[in-house]
Amino acid sequence: MPDALCLGHTPCARHYSLQRQTQLAGFAPRKRRHTLSAKRACMRVQDIRASWAETSEVVREQYGLAQDVFKQHWIPITAAAAGLYCLWRFVRFIRADADLKLLGSRRLSKDAFKDKVVWITGASQGLGEELALCFASHGAKLILSARNRDRLERVQAACMDREGCAGAMVLPLDICSPTSQLHEAAVEADNAFEGAGVDYLIHNAGASQHAAVEEVSTEVAEQMFQLNVLGPIALTRAALPFLLSRGHCRIVVVSSMAAAVPAPGQALYSGTKLALHGYFSTLQSELNDRGVTVTIACPGPVATGSEATPRNVFSSQGLTAKHEERGGSKKRLSPARVAELIARAAYNRLDMCWIAKHPVLLLGYLCQYWPTFGIWVMKKIGPLRAAQLKSGGSGYDFVSMVFGRARVKRD
Ligand SMILES: NC(=O)c1ccc[n+]([C@@H]2O[C@H](COP(=O)([O-])OP(=O)(O)OC[C@H]3O[C@@H](n4cnc5c(N)ncnc54)[C@H](OP(=O)(O)O)[C@@H]3O)[C@@H](O)[C@H]2O)c1
Repeated sequence: MPDALCLGHTPCARHYSLQRQTQLAGFAPRKRRHTLSAKRACMRVQDIRASWAETSEVVREQYGLAQDVFKQHWIPITAAAAGLYCLWRFVRFIRADADLKLLGSRRLSKDAFKDKVVWITGASQGLGEELALCFASHGAKLILSARNRDRLERVQAACMDREGCAGAMVLPLDICSPTSQLHEAAVEADNAFEGAGVDYLIHNAGASQHAAVEEVSTEVAEQMFQLNVLGPIALTRAALPFLLSRGHCRIVVVSSMAAAVPAPGQALYSGTKLALHGYFSTLQSELNDRGVTVTIACPGPVATGSEATPRNVFSSQGLTAKHEERGGSKKRLSPARVAELIARAAYNRLDMCWIAKHPVLLLGYLCQYWPTFGIWVMKKIGPLRAAQLKSGGSGYDFVSMVFGRARVKRD
């Protein structure tokens, strides 16, 4: 029907259909049904169509122009795009405080661990305490273990104060205890929170080392392996029947960058942490289909230890409580940041993560992906780093490592 006839009181079928289209597109109110509004709507749609055609014509023109420019200059354009991408990756890497896979993973939501039962060893201070606070803030129910009950109760109170914490209990435990005691602790943990079962078992208890290789006796080496390796393995074996019967648990192993990069002054410590890598990655490959999985977290230097809560460090004489004035050091990551990144790695089910600033992170990448060069670098800077540590200086003074001056400087 010609359009002219539509100006009367009876709209044509085409106008009705256009009116319906515009109603659906939200341009015309549904209840207005008289012919004038149908006609206006029809004209509006025609306007929109016209302007759309105009716009697409312009876009087509611009696109054609861009195609021509690209055809003429595709080499410099591609090079510039690749350069920008590399620059962005480079800036990201320079600013990184963890490996790029971890930094690119999902952030923790407020209820990331809502009602999950998280059992943390070494929770009375340092990194363990921060891990407890982090999991508490994200809705977890906590089982806190270490030897010192008073400190555990202090951490428990701090966790309960956190908004979102679903509960916290103290389970004093020496991870070097005989198997029967570890078994009792595993039963108690499994029955905790009305028998909910353990969702995350975090092996954090452990101690670092500051001693030259030639100074460490076999007895001290045995103590280190007992605490850092055999303890976590024995506790895992005690808990394993419960974890397997529930069919879901993520074991988080707090290792160290010393397992990825040779660390002068920490040879045995590196050895203990590497032993954990071997055991737990094999355990994961055996039990993956039965619901027991593993995240190995490798932090670099962390600013733990205070006067009230000195760090446990193995010297050549054995385990000593050591407080170093380095809480504010820029080269060490804050325990809260490290705890958050470890929790994020577990949440994203990552197999392994590195958490460190440069140059430790850079050395980690070098040793992993270009081992010939990485190990050559470590052979060059290792003796100077060991001399720095022996003289009471920092093992991370990059200038003295590179330029060969052993500077006695605290970090
Ligand atoms: N700080 C760093 O720069 C750094 C870097 C990389 C990795 N790490 C790793 O992170 C973990 C924690 O380090 P941190 O600096 O927080 O050390 P920390 O301040 O000395 O804390 C160690 C924790 O382990 C507990 N612990 C020690 N021996 C134990 C035992 N036999 N049984 C049960 N719990 C025991 C301690 O509590 P009790 O004394 O009350 O038992 C304490 O809660 C360690 O595995 C360490 O290797 C630390």
